[in-house]
Amino acid sequence: MRIVWAGLALLGISLISGGLKAQDEAAKPQFYIQRVKPIFENNCFRCHGGMNHRGALSMATKAGMAKGGKDGAVVVPGDPGRSLLVRSLRHEQPPEKPMPPKSKLSDQDIATIERWVKAGAIMPDDTIPGRR
Ligand code: HEC
Repeated sequence: MRIVWAGLALLGISLISGGLKAQDEAAKPQFYIQRVKPIFENNCFRCHGGMNHRGALSMATKAGMAKGGKDGAVVVPGDPGRSLLVRSLRHEQPPEKPMPPKSKLSDQDIATIERWVKAGAIMPDDTIPGRR
């Protein structure tokens, strides 16, 4: 019986630290590179990357993301609900600017981006300022 309790306690500890670890993961630049950037690349950069700054927003660089768009900041680190970028993905009102304009990302992709914003919207430093 004592062994069972010890096992349960260990399980509990590993579940808790597993949960904390998951949050830590999202705060690493690696999470952006492996999980977030591919979503942006496939769905956003053709209008908000490289030479294209639709809505005055360039999302491909840390500097561009920090600058935001013509309406100001698009990401409030730690607060997905107040981030214009996340609200656009959820097709919430306002901003009346659903993104991408003609489709909606999968719930899973939206959840990944929300998790990233919640953990601080951490991006790797730009190697060449202003370029990707
Ligand atoms: C086909 C081109 C296109 C694609 C793809 C696209 N956008 Fe946009 N985006 C625009 C245009 C155009 C605007 C300006 C709309 C306006 O102000 O009426 C805009 C504006 C925005 C804004 C608001 C900027 C501001 O300050 O008002 C955000 C945030 C945004 N886009 C995020 C995204 C994200 C995230 C994706 C990918 C999931 C994405 N967009 C994909 C064309 C695009």
